[in-house]
Amino acid sequence: MPSSSPTSSVIQVGPPSPVPRERRHRGVPSWSLKTAMAITGAIWAAFVAIHLFGNLKVFQGPDAFNGYAAWLRAVFYPFFPKEMVLWGLRVVLVIALGVHVGAAAIVWARGRRARGGHRVTLRGMRSWGAWLMPVTGVVLLAFVTVHVLDLTLGLAPVAPEGFAHPEAGVAHAYGNLIASFQRPWSAWFYVAAMVLLSVHIAKGFANLAADLGAMGRRWRATLSAVGGLLAVAVLLGNAAIPIAVQMGWIA
Ligand code: HEM
Repeated sequence: MPSSSPTSSVIQVGPPSPVPRERRHRGVPSWSLKTAMAITGAIWAAFVAIHLFGNLKVFQGPDAFNGYAAWLRAVFYPFFPKEMVLWGLRVVLVIALGVHVGAAAIVWARGRRARGGHRVTLRGMRSWGAWLMPVTGVVLLAFVTVHVLDLTLGLAPVAPEGFAHPEAGVAHAYGNLIASFQRPWSAWFYVAAMVLLSVHIAKGFANLAADLGAMGRRWRATLSAVGGLLAVAVLLGNAAIPIAVQMGWIA
């Protein structure tokens, strides 16, 4: 039987919540946080998929890879000034990352409070699900920071010695990439990050599919399959690059 509180306009349907009043959260509803995470996660997943195709041009040689990097800076030129589309993409990515991480932190904190603040144990799949995403997420945040310092900003001590910035429309992305991956710590750090990223993507899509339970089994299966395929492609495609440099297959 529906009942309403005299102090709020929220109508409670069904049996009283087992969560004590002090543990119930106020503020943004969890479903909208999860929707925000799904949208911003999809934006990053799309970027990662497109970036993968660009990265694989490294196997076509310096001209193809540098040409692609230069093209990125001149997309839709002269309709838009040079680098305008690239800066638009950067702004969208930074905002999406901020929203994704912020919403994830709130959802995770609420889940922890709902468990009574208990630490998550390693027993059972539920506990796996509870720590896998935050832990891989934090490492990936560190990866993106290191990666941008390494190959975009070219800042020491992360970037390789002799990092060359693009000048007069000429990019040196190929030389910078090879120089970076010739350092074993950098190459194996990227490989490890790709393992974690593929796990994060696969589990993220699976979580989304589970949250969308009402949409039917076929939808859920399709979403999980898309996540799995993207995860495998990211792992094999991206990790192949630092490994190829370390093996001396490309230089
Ligand atoms: C082995 C894998 C990867 C390689 C070889 C690679 C390579 C590169 C290179 C060469 C650039 C610089 C492009 C330029 O300035 O012309 C770049 C930029 C970037 N990469 Fe990656 N990348 C990899 C994986 C990733 C992943 C997994 C992500 C995201 C999760 C990512 C996010 C970015 C971002 C945000 C930028 C900066 C774009 C910009 O602002 O110009 N990369 N990457």
